[in-house]
Amino acid sequence: MFPLGFYRDKNGVLNVQGIRIDTLSKKYGTPLFIYDTGLMKERYEVFLNTVKNVKGNIHYAVKANDSVNIIKFFGNLGAGADIVSIGEFNKCVAAGIPPDKIIFSGVGKDRNEIEIAIKNNILQFNIESEEELNDIHEIASKLKTTANICLRINPDISPNTHKKISTGEKETKFGIDNEYVFSIYQKLHKLNYINPVGLGVHIGSQIFNFNFFHKAYSNLKTIADKLKNAGFKVPTLDLGGGIGIYYDENKRPDFDAYEKIISDLFLDTEYKLSFEPGRSLIAEAGVLITKVIRNKKNKEKNFIIIDAAMNNLIRPTLYDAYHSIETVKKTSSKEIVADIVGPICETGDFFALNRKFTEVNNNDLLIIRTTGAYSSVMKSNYNSRVDAVEVLIYNGKSYQLKVIDTISDIISKEKIIKFI
Ligand code: LLP
Repeated sequence: MFPLGFYRDKNGVLNVQGIRIDTLSKKYGTPLFIYDTGLMKERYEVFLNTVKNVKGNIHYAVKANDSVNIIKFFGNLGAGADIVSIGEFNKCVAAGIPPDKIIFSGVGKDRNEIEIAIKNNILQFNIESEEELNDIHEIASKLKTTANICLRINPDISPNTHKKISTGEKETKFGIDNEYVFSIYQKLHKLNYINPVGLGVHIGSQIFNFNFFHKAYSNLKTIADKLKNAGFKVPTLDLGGGIGIYYDENKRPDFDAYEKIISDLFLDTEYKLSFEPGRSLIAEAGVLITKVIRNKKNKEKNFIIIDAAMNNLIRPTLYDAYHSIETVKKTSSKEIVADIVGPICETGDFFALNRKFTEVNNNDLLIIRTTGAYSSVMKSNYNSRVDAVEVLIYNGKSYQLKVIDTISDIISKEKIIKFI
């Protein structure tokens, strides 16, 4: 048995499931995303254990990493899915997730997407406005098919995370204000072809102070209890995702603390609970391997220029996110302070600024850790860069996840106009 994730062998070289990372990079090239199914399974099982006491259902938040094989892997372990587009729905179907285990979230489902989801009998829509309800009702009536509706509450809670991934405050576009929830839920019961299934909340991502979850969940429960006392059916509560993971330390998310909070509120509850974890299931299981192109020095600074760029991993520049970076083999022990940057032509193309790092040589391999979630999935072809190869490690073997378009493939898809 090998340690989970990416570990050093006795020669100090990084390995995954007994395979050397430098062997993988030789085979597939760089930049290269590698995912360890061992760690994915472990995280899934820990989460399952965390929600066992309250009999929670897990719906993997596909937006974190929408590779069909990754969805399929969690699906095989028993997960349903949380999606935000019909594109993600199609990926889930390709991954073998049955529509009756799929929750459709998102503030801007268009009419076409709503129609497809209803025709496929998805588990439920988590809706975010009365306007959306009216659209769904109209489409469901036309199709003479009932849509299951859950109202997502905006509890006006600021969970102290990055502004761009905080979703539970009044001024964000998400959810329905607390004060309207009761009346809209009542309205659901008067509509033909609408089946009210409950309430939901998701206040953001990368949350470490779990008191915010407690606050959001007890608010949800209070409103649900009130509705039930008034005679309405509220079978399910959707508690969303958002558990913070550690990018700077080798430490598991605090599932124990999360378990305490949900047990405190929901032990022996009648509500059927669903959870939508994304990052906490997949982030740590992925890494990005990259090669040093060259070192550059100017009067002020050292730069380590690598062959990965912000088109492969935009998190550092978009969210000021920290990702730990190491050499794949232990090299020089001399320390420098450097910016670790990509080749893209803008200053925002960086992975680390003023980072203490060992001196490296051209062609040395580096590992950028914790890039399983919100990394390859946010890629682009900016600067006409082709996608990074992605491989999954399963039972000690590597599997390439996708055929990568070469630059000729990309050009051949452009429709060339004859200008005269
Ligand atoms: N449910 C809903 C309705 C969501 O919007 C999200 C994430 C999740 C569940 C999953 O949350 P998680 O367990 O992964 O925290 N690109 C950003 C993160 C965006 C999160 C969007 N919504 C990043 O790289 O940090």
